[in-house]
Amino acid sequence: MSSKEAKTNQQSLVPPKSAGKVTFVGTGLQLAGQISILSKSYIENADLVFSLVPDGFTERWLVSLNPNHRSLQPYYARKDEVKNRRDTYSQMVEAILEQVRLGLNVVVALYGHPGVFACISHLSIKQAKKEGYFAEMLPGISAEACLWADLGIDPGASGHQSYEATQFMLYHHEPNTNTHLLLWQISLAGEHTLTQFSTTSERLAILVDHLSQWYPLEHEVVIYEAANLPIQSPRIEKLLLKELPYARLEMISTLMIPPVQKLKLNLAMLEKLGISASDIG
Ligand SMILES: C[S@@+](CC[C@H](N)C(=O)[O-])C[C@H]1O[C@@H](n2cnc3c(N)ncnc32)[C@H](O)[C@@H]1O
Repeated sequence: MSSKEAKTNQQSLVPPKSAGKVTFVGTGLQLAGQISILSKSYIENADLVFSLVPDGFTERWLVSLNPNHRSLQPYYARKDEVKNRRDTYSQMVEAILEQVRLGLNVVVALYGHPGVFACISHLSIKQAKKEGYFAEMLPGISAEACLWADLGIDPGASGHQSYEATQFMLYHHEPNTNTHLLLWQISLAGEHTLTQFSTTSERLAILVDHLSQWYPLEHEVVIYEAANLPIQSPRIEKLLLKELPYARLEMISTLMIPPVQKLKLNLAMLEKLGISASDIG
């Protein structure tokens, strides 16, 4: 038996000292390099680490930090199985809470930022707190943080908006066309059943038609995919809005729609503030 295995067995036999708590940490998007020092230390010191990360390399790296590790991946539908993702998420939350109730110091490592477009962290923390356990979240580097860096855009220059693509379609959202618009989970746009892992050209055509209320069909948009491994480059594919239904979309694709017009001065506000338009740089 290796010393690592001996340590693992020994740890599972020793009753934990902690009174049960859960911490969600983010691993960032890229293998090993985008995690905070604090989050890494939480992983190393946990009684048990759950993870949901984009590739086997990242998972193996987590195991090297702490061998008491369980992947949450098996809760997703198996091939040919039809399973609602709501069931998947509640099973994940229950698996995490079960270990907290046993008194373990549980750390859950999710890729990106653990609380950005990710529900199991928020659901688990809410439930753990309701049951009287300590629960917290540490921030991580999200896909959006990588996008601004790779595309060389300062989102503060004109503001920005972010929506989950299906929610953008199903609810009344009005994009501000002076700002950058991000549509997350674009590869699932309009997939409301929560059982499929891709959308269709037809649904994307409906999205394009919807967007054409505010954006010209000839407007250039970007499909963005941050690199998950240091040997990869980000995918930054520029295309016309009307081409979106035929584009290659992956689960990790995010759609970025640049502004169509420049910011317009609010002249009424300038007057109230006693500022003349020529004073604004
Ligand atoms: C469930 S959300 C998880 C987001 C994650 N918590 C984060 O902080 O980035 C999944 C969506 O995040 C975006 N995403 C995930 N990985 C990405 C990547 N490598 N590049 C660009 N966007 C990514 C995509 O929009 C994808 O559909």
